[in-house]
Amino acid sequence: MDEPQKLKRVLGRWDLIGLGIGAIIGAGIFVLTGQAAAQYAGPAIVISFILSGIVCALAGLCYAELASLLPVAGSAYTYARASMGGFLAWIIGWDLILEYFFASATVAVGWSGYMVSFLQDFGIHIPTIVARSPLSFDHTLGWQLTGAIINLPAMLIIALVTLLLIIGIKESARANAIIVFIKLTVILLFIGFGARYINPQNWVPFIPQNTGEFGHFGWSGIARGAAVIFFAYIGFDAVSTAAQESKNPQKDMPIGIMGSLAVCTVLYILVALVLTGLVKFPLLNVPDPIAVGVNAAGASLSWLRPLIKLGALAGLNSVILVMLMGQTRIFYSMSEDGYLPKAFAKIHPKFQTPYITTLLIGALAMVIAGIFPIGILGELVSIGTLFAFAIVCLAVWILRKSKPNLPRAFRTPWVPFVPILGALTAFAQMLSLPKDTWVRLIIWMALGLIIYYFYGRRHMKKPRYFEDNQ
Ligand code: ALA
Repeated sequence: MDEPQKLKRVLGRWDLIGLGIGAIIGAGIFVLTGQAAAQYAGPAIVISFILSGIVCALAGLCYAELASLLPVAGSAYTYARASMGGFLAWIIGWDLILEYFFASATVAVGWSGYMVSFLQDFGIHIPTIVARSPLSFDHTLGWQLTGAIINLPAMLIIALVTLLLIIGIKESARANAIIVFIKLTVILLFIGFGARYINPQNWVPFIPQNTGEFGHFGWSGIARGAAVIFFAYIGFDAVSTAAQESKNPQKDMPIGIMGSLAVCTVLYILVALVLTGLVKFPLLNVPDPIAVGVNAAGASLSWLRPLIKLGALAGLNSVILVMLMGQTRIFYSMSEDGYLPKAFAKIHPKFQTPYITTLLIGALAMVIAGIFPIGILGELVSIGTLFAFAIVCLAVWILRKSKPNLPRAFRTPWVPFVPILGALTAFAQMLSLPKDTWVRLIIWMALGLIIYYFYGRRHMKKPRYFEDNQ
């Protein structure tokens, strides 16, 4: 009777694949692809997508082993807790906030932009002063005021998603499934109909000549493009945060993680091919490149335009949903381990969701989304995620050595080659991010260390993983 309420195992493998696709396809493909093609890689952005897809696949294989081995809610945090001890677990748990929490805010800002433009098409005008970040950041000029007061649409979407998450995981997964269906349909329509209007001349030259500056076309541009569109792949790992709510995690976790990643990789490569075949790449430096691609096909495809915007809005919605959910589950696990106050793990008696954490995270994400610009948030998300990928890859290798006999339902192939390559490529991508982003990462981590020193260190419990297996 005194057993505390736990998360319930209600998600099947299709729910998990849906959660993965829900988290992956979002601002990356709908917004960043065009800018990356126009500024860095040209049509060869297709190659950037392949390269980034390979980095993610290496990390995905490692996530798959650990998520099936440790089917609890904390994802990379839990894996570090089990393999590297309390201190590193705290570091990675704190780092994951950069991924999940900030990703939900980043994508909410993207959602706000699309929503304003969608409403504009119907003659409804939202004043910029309440629909834009009051701050902007330029790598040479630094922070500046934009004249806007707050980004209200971004705050509103977070509030709605937070409510949905409190009502229930199954309800959230169901809403996610509908959204995933809409966005997949829109993307497939774009690929299917767009392919008929491709002008192969637009692919020539496929790899534009480097301008003389590193990262601007040529092979270095392909590498820079890969780092920028890495954001588009983030999210497959979020499947692992739902491990404690999966009915059959040993089998379904690897399927959910690798399945959603594979589907999205193929779709991304096709979208990039069609998009750069429809439009000359310099014209793609816009916030809605896919809609620009449809325009280029001429009047016969104009029916697809509003659908694309609707698909993008739906797509961004589900990314916010899965990312916020991921953050609450990580806090849940950290609280169960004593790193955070107990209230974070409190489950609502009726809805069976961690409602206090969800409310708190939702409220904070609203503030961040209301104030900060998308670029700054997105880069923080990328650096935080890549750091987590590197740790997860190493955790696979360490656990294989320290606990070789655990019953692994899914085994990462070619250990230690795959984990080492996964960690190195993730680190290489981190290096290609701007210096300012590194400074922010270091400040964030320093803050985490202070909290660890004064709270986490004193309250943490002994880990309880593998007790039955050793
Ligand atoms: N992959 C997610 C997106 O592109 C984070 O929005």
